[in-house]
Order: sequence, then structure tokens, then C-alpha cells
Amino acid sequence: MQRIPEPELMDEAEQARAYAMADFAEPNARFVSYFETEFPDLQAGAVLDLGCGPGDIVLRLATRRAGLTVHGIDGSAAMLRFASESLHEAPALGGRVQFIEGLLPGAMLPLPGYDAVVSNSLLHHLHDPGVFWRAVREAGLPGAAVLVMDLFRPQSRAAAQAIVDQYAATEPDVLRQDFLASLCAAFEPGEVRAQLREHGLDGLSVRTVSDRHLLISGRLPQR
Ligand SMILES: C[S@@+](CC[C@H](N)C(=O)[O-])C[C@H]1O[C@@H](n2cnc3c(N)ncnc32)[C@H](O)[C@@H]1O
Repeated sequence: MQRIPEPELMDEAEQARAYAMADFAEPNARFVSYFETEFPDLQAGAVLDLGCGPGDIVLRLATRRAGLTVHGIDGSAAMLRFASESLHEAPALGGRVQFIEGLLPGAMLPLPGYDAVVSNSLLHHLHDPGVFWRAVREAGLPGAAVLVMDLFRPQSRAAAQAIVDQYAATEPDVLRQDFLASLCAAFEPGEVRAQLREHGLDGLSVRTVSDRHLLISGRLPQR
């Protein structure tokens, strides 16, 4: 199936609400456990989450590793409202967590460099994947940890629909439509490997970790 790009930002109120209310506990917990397994020594330092949405992964990372400062950036004010509300309910994390409204490319970040750059489900939103990989390189310090999870594109629209039916049968229509659009906009593993080569990031590994998820991990070059 050919890639069908979807709108980049999730900035409509109903869309952001449906996403923020959906239950992503399992994949989000899995993301954090991949981080812990891949980077056991990264107990302190600063982490940036690109396209953090409602901020669940930011808060989970900050909770699991008390030495980390975690910043989340997203271009959608509607999404960040949910992130701020969740942070408000976790005051103990307040000093170490910050959410920033900013559009890639070119968003201003609070720190000049991060020890780790992570992202879940942003890559497939970007019409030009180069925007994503340049942002990873620019935000990360030399040798920074990188962990990216995203959907990969199924072979056909029917296969994509079957995944939506299997994993989002009871979700609101707006979320089911977004999920289908995301699967159709996602990249295949081979396409991601080509992107990494193009951006000098072929030291990162790409592997499929479920029937719909890709994991990209490793370290940025030392420059
Ligand atoms: C599918 S959501 C993933 C949210 C979050 N990472 C998670 O795992 O729940 C993708 C997010 O990327 C944001 N986004 C898309 N394009 C962006 C861009 N060019 N700059 C900043 N954020 C962007 C959207 O607004 C949305 O909140």
C-alpha cells in the first residue's frame, strides 16, 4: 500500500480529547520499559519527548527515574492542555517536568542539548520524515540515547482496518478514524532504515516489536 500522509498536528479539541481519554497504558508502559532495558545507566540527565501529546510517557519516565528531567514538546495546544492537567495532578514531578508548545521544525527548546531524545507515534505524522530525524540530531547531545516507537504501515488498507477493529473496537469513531489514517501514513521498516542512512543515523537499530509497532533505538554519533 502507498503511504497516505495525514494532517500533522492533532489540534482539534474533540480529536485531542478522544486521544487523551483513550487507554494507551499498555503501549506507553511498554515504551518506558524499552527505555529502561535499552538505557539502564541513564539514571540522571535530561530527556526530550518529541510530539509528547497528552504527556503520559513524559510523566511515566519522570516517575520511573527520579534523576531525570523530562521535557515534552508538541505543536498542539489542545493536547498540551491535557498534559498540563496531568502534571497538575502529580505535583511531586513538577520541578522535573516541563511541557513546551512548539512546532517542528524550528521549535525553541529550553535546553541546548539532551542526554536522550524519545518519541512515540510522531514520525508518521510528519509529511517530511527528515524534519523528525533532523530534530532528533539537533536536540540530542553527541552520543545521546534515542528511543522512537511508531506504527508501521500494513500491506493493505484491509489489513490496516483489521488492526483498527482488533485494537480499537470500542473506541470513539474519531479515534478509530485517526488510527486508520495513522496506519496508512506510517512508514515501512525498510523506509525508516533508508531515512536513517540519509541522516547519518544508521548506527540506530530498527526492529518490529508487535504486529503494528516499530522500535528504533541506539545512540547518536559522537560527531
Ligand atoms: C499520535 S500523537 C502521539 C502523542 C504521544 N507521543 C503519545 O504517545 O501519546 C502525535 C503528536 O504529535 C504532534 N505533532 C504532529 N506534528 C507535529 C509537529 N510538526 N510539531 C510538533 N508536534 C507535532 C501532534 O500534535 C500529536 O500530539
